[in-house]
Amino acid sequence: MKSFKYIDLFCGIGGFHQAMQSLGGKCVFASDIDEDCRKTYEANYGIKPTGDITKIEACDIPAHDVLCAGFPCQAFSKAGKRLGFDDETKGTLFFDICRILEFHKPKYALLENVRNLASHDKGNTWRVIHDKLVSLGYNLLPEPVIFSPHYVGIPQHRERVYIMCVKKEIGDIRPFTFDKKEMASCTIESILQKDDEIPNIQEYRISPDLEDLIDLWNEFLQNIVVDKLPGFPVWSDRLCDLDPHEDLTEYPSWKQNFIHKNNELYLANRGFISEWLPRAKRNPLFFGAKAKLEWQAGQTKLPNIWNQIFQLRPSGIRVKVNSYFPALVAIVQTSIIGSRRRFLTPRECARLQSFPDTFLPDVKQAQAYKQFGNAVNVECVKLFGRHLFNI
Ligand SMILES: C[S@@+](CC[C@H](N)C(=O)[O-])C[C@H]1O[C@@H](n2cnc3c(N)ncnc32)[C@H](O)[C@@H]1O
Repeated sequence: MKSFKYIDLFCGIGGFHQAMQSLGGKCVFASDIDEDCRKTYEANYGIKPTGDITKIEACDIPAHDVLCAGFPCQAFSKAGKRLGFDDETKGTLFFDICRILEFHKPKYALLENVRNLASHDKGNTWRVIHDKLVSLGYNLLPEPVIFSPHYVGIPQHRERVYIMCVKKEIGDIRPFTFDKKEMASCTIESILQKDDEIPNIQEYRISPDLEDLIDLWNEFLQNIVVDKLPGFPVWSDRLCDLDPHEDLTEYPSWKQNFIHKNNELYLANRGFISEWLPRAKRNPLFFGAKAKLEWQAGQTKLPNIWNQIFQLRPSGIRVKVNSYFPALVAIVQTSIIGSRRRFLTPRECARLQSFPDTFLPDVKQAQAYKQFGNAVNVECVKLFGRHLFNI
């Protein structure tokens, strides 16, 4: 296909748009219920997306060759099985994709979803999607393809499901294989902005109290005597003797297990922890989730959080090895780059989703983070687009 028309459903800020345009496509229709997304989309592509897709008649959508959609994953009614597919999908946004496919019968469809879709509802969700698309006259692979940008050297771990569909008359889809042994190496440096290129860099810097808190946790990691760095979450309120009156059986077994492990860690390091903990508690941030540490950066002789990537999560400070970032998410919980002592900027989030530097993010920063967190990775869509169109 040298040139083709496509529609961008659940368009967000246009991850599909970026990819399809680069493959020669022309967008003839876009839709998203979120007004901020619509504004960002229009500012970047000069197309004003329509709103809620459930309110749009298929006949009001222009003819197209390719339907693209990164749709929200919803459970289907099991009762529908007996009544037919329409009843199974009705009331879900997948149903809206189906009625548009049924009306327009585009040559191709490319869908994206969370990884969980493959196993969601014990496989029922995938089965319904697969069977419904087949019943509409499309060929697709028997299993959805799971793929992540970090497989191809983009430093974001974001496993997502890609569903390629081609009209039966056109042919079959070649099997898609990817040998993880061929995985490209990633470096976070490839997407980082130089600090002196970041306007208002102060906004992204972490606070002195947080720096001090990380220093305290580094001191902890570097002074505890252990065979292996803790693979369990360190809960500072559990670094103490066990209270013989406390009934631990009221907790789930995983929690009991962590409590015992924290207690063992304390018993083996009682001297150091008794001196460290009261000092740590003097840091105003050392409470709740920030008084917990999840070291997930492997075994190393000199653990140092400043050399890694970390996130302030509700479950604790989670430290990851610095080769790629965890998946961007739609809530403001961006990663902190230890070596830079700052949060990811919106431009860096754009790069993690393979949006070009010419892309104009939402001026409202919280919205920009949310929109990149929701977006599809452009390079992944290009890869599956090429595979689907045989180019
Ligand atoms: C996972 S995001 C897709 C993001 C998009 N692929 C991108 O690259 O930015 C799902 C989108 O569906 C939109 N959405 C949810 N319900 C919708 C509806 N009823 N009609 C249109 N869009 C809807 C959300 O606002 C969200 O932007």
